[in-house]
Amino acid sequence: MTAVADRSLGPELVRTESIGEADVLVIGLTSSDDGPVIAPADAFGDVLDADTRAALLTALRAVGAKGKPEELTRVPAPAGLGVDSVLAVGLGPAEKVDAEQIRKSAGVAGRALAGTATAVTTLSGLDLGAAAEGFYLGAYQFTAFKSVKSAPKPGDQPVARVEFLVPDAGFGEEALFRAQAVAEAVATARDFVNTPPNALFPAEFANRAAELAKAAGLHVEILDETELEAKGFGGILGVGKGSSRPPRLIRITYAGGDKKVALIGKGITFDTGGISIKPAANMENMTSDMGGAAAVIATTLLAARLSLPLTVVATVPMAENMPSATAQRPGDVLVQYGGTTVEVINTDAEGRLILADAIVRASEDEPDYLIDVATLTGAQMVALGTRTPGVMGTDAFRDRVARISQGVGENAWAMPLPAELRGDLNSKIADLANVAPHRWGGMLSAGLFLKEFVPESVEWAHLDVAGPAYNTGGPFGYIGKGGTGVPVRTLIATLEDIAAE
Ligand code: BES
Ligand code: MN
Ligand code: ZN
Repeated sequence: MTAVADRSLGPELVRTESIGEADVLVIGLTSSDDGPVIAPADAFGDVLDADTRAALLTALRAVGAKGKPEELTRVPAPAGLGVDSVLAVGLGPAEKVDAEQIRKSAGVAGRALAGTATAVTTLSGLDLGAAAEGFYLGAYQFTAFKSVKSAPKPGDQPVARVEFLVPDAGFGEEALFRAQAVAEAVATARDFVNTPPNALFPAEFANRAAELAKAAGLHVEILDETELEAKGFGGILGVGKGSSRPPRLIRITYAGGDKKVALIGKGITFDTGGISIKPAANMENMTSDMGGAAAVIATTLLAARLSLPLTVVATVPMAENMPSATAQRPGDVLVQYGGTTVEVINTDAEGRLILADAIVRASEDEPDYLIDVATLTGAQMVALGTRTPGVMGTDAFRDRVARISQGVGENAWAMPLPAELRGDLNSKIADLANVAPHRWGGMLSAGLFLKEFVPESVEWAHLDVAGPAYNTGGPFGYIGKGGTGVPVRTLIATLEDIAAE
């Protein structure tokens, strides 16, 4: 089962100037004191004339549509419109409609369209790119591991095609190209995260990533356990040595320009905690502990697809954190790549150990910017909840990444690296301990550990996405259950921002 390579693609996204052969028309509804209002109000008049709009609004009011955010109302199509039904999706008050609201509403509509062959929408009149991303991501399903016994029936399968109304044939080609590329990259990251840990172990993860990268014409290097040993990657080896499935370090290079960005992602294909073993309850969610790796791999491929004028090097350590007779022990001292010694107080604080090696390796290329992404701490969720990534690092770049992330709806929030917490990572016998002897500021303490390995001269951002990378609850907006693909859209927008400097 090669779920990632063989993923059934999401809906085909196309531009259109007419309703054509579509089965369902999706329209937006804003809310007002006088009831719902069709949005956009003044576009596509030849497709949706004044009489049709009036008839639609009457029908929608009759069944209680208000235009509340993400509300769904389905009505039979007025005669002559050429579709079977109209799906109205709420956008909330007109003055609050932004790209993220359009993405969320399109996402809810995209999910509700399961079983539909072709839908056509006017949401493109509000924001074509946001609407396209929303439909594609909302329609996403991961079914690679469902046998015929539970595979979705035709009526539950993702919408096959979504057509976006545009004023003329010349409109929106670039916006749709970008939206499709971005949405597919998010889906690639989701597929990796959703692939179960028995199917996606370090060597397999590295091979699948390499396959995608090579198909995109990118340069790939994979270090196996022998090469990791020879070069002194003690963090990756220490974490990986409890598993029968040895660790890897993969590097993917997209050379598109002079400015250099290093991307690093935590690739723990399963985190049992190791000898400091986790409780059984919810341990299955630790299949998502490679969400950072998945995001940086997908983003590097996406940067290439968008031909961004910069160089991106992804350095991704992959290991499985298992308890066994060969596992590292609490109290072991390992030597990180580059020579720093670390006392492993808690084998469950493994992400920082593999990331430290990768950060030192990535820094040898002298990047201008270094961004690491990791499902690093439960403390991230204690501090910010399950949907808000924490971003730490050098002040200006950290704030810039947070602002960009908020702009794309992934909503990362800037967090400090308080100097007074650094002393708690001192070890009696090594250069550093991998955890503090208390639980206060656990997300920040992990960030301070990583900071020890980042060169002074580099602009650095560390994103902790422990909660946001994986949705253990029900679907919302364009996010389904399981892997979310966060923070792919933050990363690509940051790369675009750097490229535009
Ligand atoms: N992978 C976990 C963090 C995590 C927890 C991600 C929940 C997603 C959901 C990480 O390796 C870990 O175990 N962190 C420990 C650190 C502690 C030992 C200092 C934690 O957060 O408990
Ligand atoms: Mn852990
Ligand atoms: Zn972990």
